[in-house]
Order: sequence, then C-alpha cells, then structure tokens
Amino acid sequence: MVGVVVVIAIISVSCGETGNKAKEATKNAAEKVEKKAEAVKEKAEAAVKAVLGNADHGKEIYDNKCMACHMTGVTGAPKMDEKERWAKIASQGLDVVYSHALKGFTGKQGNMPPKGGFSDLSDSDVKDAVTYMLKTSGAK
Ligand code: HEC
Repeated sequence: MVGVVVVIAIISVSCGETGNKAKEATKNAAEKVEKKAEAVKEKAEAAVKAVLGNADHGKEIYDNKCMACHMTGVTGAPKMDEKERWAKIASQGLDVVYSHALKGFTGKQGNMPPKGGFSDLSDSDVKDAVTYMLKTSGAK
C-alpha cells in the first residue's frame, strides 16, 4: 500500500512541470517511506518467527521428552490420537492442564510426573509442549 502511494507520487511529480527540487524532495520522501516499510516488515517477520518458533519448540520438547509416554500411551498416558480424551483434558481449561503438566497429577489412568519427570525443563518449555500436544491431538 505504501509502495503504491510512493509510486503514484513519483509518477505525478515526474510527469508534471516541476523542477528538480521537487523531484529530489519526492525521492527523499520515498526513501524515508521505504525505510519505514522495511522496518515494519522486519518487525512483522520477527513476530511471525516468534510464534512459529514456539510451535517448533513445543514439538522439539514433546519429541525428546513427552513422546516416550504419550506416543504409546504407556502407563496410561493419553496418546496423541485419543482425540476425545484430549478434548476432555482441554475442557478443564488451560490453567488446569498446564498445572497438571507442571506439577504432575494422578488421574484415573495413571500418574503424570511433574514436567514428565524432566525437572530440567523450564515452565515455558512444558507449556509449549502442552500447547503442541493439544494442537496435534486436535483438541485445540
Ligand atoms: C512417564 C510417563 C510420562 C511422561 C514422560 C510424560 N507424561 Fe504426561 N501423562 C502421563 C500419564 C500417565 C498421564 C495421564 C494420567 C491420567 O489421566 O490418569 C499424563 C497426562 C498428561 C496431560 C493431561 C493432564 C490432564 O489434565 O489430564 C498432559 C497435558 C501431559 N501429560 C503433558 C505432558 C508433557 C508436556 C510431557 C513432557 C514434558 C509429558 N506429559 C510427559 C505420563 C507421562
């Protein structure tokens, strides 16, 4: 959008009976707008990267730590393809699900150890993994 405005400005100035000064001013203005657009683009790219990065991060944690139980359902862990069970889990609300994953909990099917037994994980590592699991299972 900004680019279009700039191009129109340049065309109208270069077609009109205007002096070099006006052309120069337009060029400077165009360069300024371009710089601004570049900065906005960079910001947008960083924001997208942050979001996608978190999703990738959650998958990485899941693949390395949580999959051991949640892939096969060993010891009663909800498997990733148990969509209904995950829907029920999600229905407790994110706060409860996060807290169960972080602090551990014993349900009807078995025991989920705090952070899956990996105390070296940060809280946000575990939350990213939970988000990934909810998404992958189709619950969220
Ligand atoms: C040692 C096996 C094991 C590992 C490793 C493990 N879990 Fe679990 N997890 C369980 C079991 C068992 C349950 C189900 C308990 C029940 O419902 O009775 C469970 C349940 C859950 C739930 C559902 C909680 C709820 O409210 O019902 C979440 C979310 C979860 N795990 C996240 C994780 C994350 C994230 C990791 C990796 C950081 C992980 N788990 C690693 C065994 C494990």
